[in-house]
Amino acid sequence: MSDLRVLVVEDEGIIAKDIQSTLNRSGYSVIAVASSGQEAIEKAMEMYPDLVLMDIVLEGDMDGVAAAEKIRDRFDIPVVYLTAYSDDTTLQRAKITEPYGYILKPFQERELYTTIEMALYKHKIERKLKENERWVATLLKSIGDAVIATDTSKLITFMNPVAEALTGWKHEEAVGKPIKDVFKIINEKTGKEVEESATRLLQDRVVTGITNHAVLIAEDGTKRPIDDSCAPIRDDKGRIIGVVLIFRDITETKRMQDSILKSEKQLRNLSSSILSAQEQERKRISRELHDDLGQILTAVLLDISRAEKQETILSSSSYGFLEHIRVGIKEALQRVRSLSAILRPGILDQLGLKAAVISFLEEIQEQTGLKIIEEMQVDQSNIPESVSIAIYRILQEATTNIVKHAEAKQVIVKLQSDSKTISISIKDDGKGFKLESLPIDKGLGLLGMKERAEWLGGVFKIESAHSRGTSICAEFPLFSKKLAT
Ligand SMILES: Nc1ncnc2c1ncn2[C@@H]1O[C@H](COP(=O)(O)OP(=O)(O)OP(=O)(O)O)[C@@H](O)[C@H]1O
Ligand SMILES: [Mg+2]
Repeated sequence: MSDLRVLVVEDEGIIAKDIQSTLNRSGYSVIAVASSGQEAIEKAMEMYPDLVLMDIVLEGDMDGVAAAEKIRDRFDIPVVYLTAYSDDTTLQRAKITEPYGYILKPFQERELYTTIEMALYKHKIERKLKENERWVATLLKSIGDAVIATDTSKLITFMNPVAEALTGWKHEEAVGKPIKDVFKIINEKTGKEVEESATRLLQDRVVTGITNHAVLIAEDGTKRPIDDSCAPIRDDKGRIIGVVLIFRDITETKRMQDSILKSEKQLRNLSSSILSAQEQERKRISRELHDDLGQILTAVLLDISRAEKQETILSSSSYGFLEHIRVGIKEALQRVRSLSAILRPGILDQLGLKAAVISFLEEIQEQTGLKIIEEMQVDQSNIPESVSIAIYRILQEATTNIVKHAEAKQVIVKLQSDSKTISISIKDDGKGFKLESLPIDKGLGLLGMKERAEWLGGVFKIESAHSRGTSICAEFPLFSKKLAT
């Protein structure tokens, strides 16, 4: 038994009393009795009952059907008719007011109770449904994506405000129209019309992902790049009863992507021009050191020899002093030569890449005690200067890394070329490292090697694993547009 508040509308006093006591026995409380339609509306507004039990023929101008209609529309209170009239006309009029029950007088107590309980339950469910509908409608209106729903004939049944803004169609105009009239998309690249995913889904029963390079054409002809997706709407038996299409404007995302690509290209150009300027500068300093400083030091050595011949003006202690100077100058000259060679190995320009690589590796072996195995199968005749320098620098950096980080015993260096490509690989048996866990700001060596290779149209690969050594490989095309510039 519930404690529900019921408004009874009945103009016959004795019947009203009878109804009231029946309701009380069933556990309902009658909060008021109204005898006219007007009074019923006033009481409903004032007391907000849980249910109205309404007679149809009432005193006054307004009958029960008219009063029930107003109560339903204004206050959403369930109304059950309790009447002696069951003629067709009355029933038809009552039906329009969507009553929650219809009981004919004389009634059984049990019948009244069951009808009221059913009415309350139905009203509760309907209220919940309405709440859900409002919730879904608010959700669809407030989300940032555009949403269009269709039935199985591809006719639009719903459209949210974002979809209105993007297509240029108002909801009222679009509802009932074929989706292809409202949601017109073309392929950005070909300019050709694309079949939207709702059609594909309904025809082929295929749930498709994003339509590639889709551009939406709005009602006024405005074109916007979009991302779209599509899903079937199913009934409780799993049958497809429509399609929901979700899409969004990606103009801004595309603009940002384009500018990030563009920036990457600019950075790559910048780094390659820095590398090439650095190479030029090294060449210049190397030449100055070798030709200028080297010449001066050699001239000083000649002067010392000449001075030693001036026996008449030199004391015996001066010979020892001159010898000391000679040793110092020779050492300085040696340093100048090796500095000059590091900056720009003359052997590279004079004898070519193969000789420069062999000479460099001999020096490393001598200085570090590393066992170096060389495999050289290279035709020197067609290697562009820029490629020779890049390979030499990669070898320098890779071996410096081995000496600095690898704790290796042995290194295998392969230099190979055929008519189209040349490659260098440097493989050590050292401790290796995890490439993916290298901090981004760790060093510039690996990055520089990659930049050098890629700038010349080559490919740079590095493989390394803990305790399994590191392998670096760079392959260059011998003829490419980049080499011509
Ligand atoms: N052959 C190798 N064996 C083991 N670890 C290596 C090897 N080569 C590179 N590494 C690891 O990769 C890191 C990055 O190398 P990279 O040459 O980029 O920088 P770096 O040598 O630390 O500094 P930089 O070259 O700028 O002077 C190194 O710090 C080292 O941890
Ligand atoms: Mg390094």
